[in-house]
Amino acid sequence: MPVLTFAVSGPGNCVEVDGVPYVYARTVQGGSVLRAACPHRGGPLHLAVPDRTGRQLVCPWHERGTSLSRLRKEIPAVRNGATVTAVIPARAGSTVVHRHLPLSPELALGC
Ligand code: FES
Repeated sequence: MPVLTFAVSGPGNCVEVDGVPYVYARTVQGGSVLRAACPHRGGPLHLAVPDRTGRQLVCPWHERGTSLSRLRKEIPAVRNGATVTAVIPARAGSTVVHRHLPLSPELALGC
């Protein structure tokens, strides 16, 4: 699995591995690296907002909730200042592209 380091905000805040985007997001419950495309139909979870409980991210396309704790458990990661290093669930030799993705304000607390 690729171990990748990228920015927690601004340019380069997204790594795309074999076409799947990952971003660092920080809510009131803490920070983590999340898959930015919904596993259901690819909705833009980087633009999602937490529900009233803070436990689910609500898809901006379908208003369907995805468990935030489940998303967090998928990607082991450690933040070090302005960067984060994450173990991405993909095969070795995957195509990696660094780029920028905007986050909803609720996912960019303290970034
Ligand atoms: S794409 Fe999965 S809930 Fe919208």
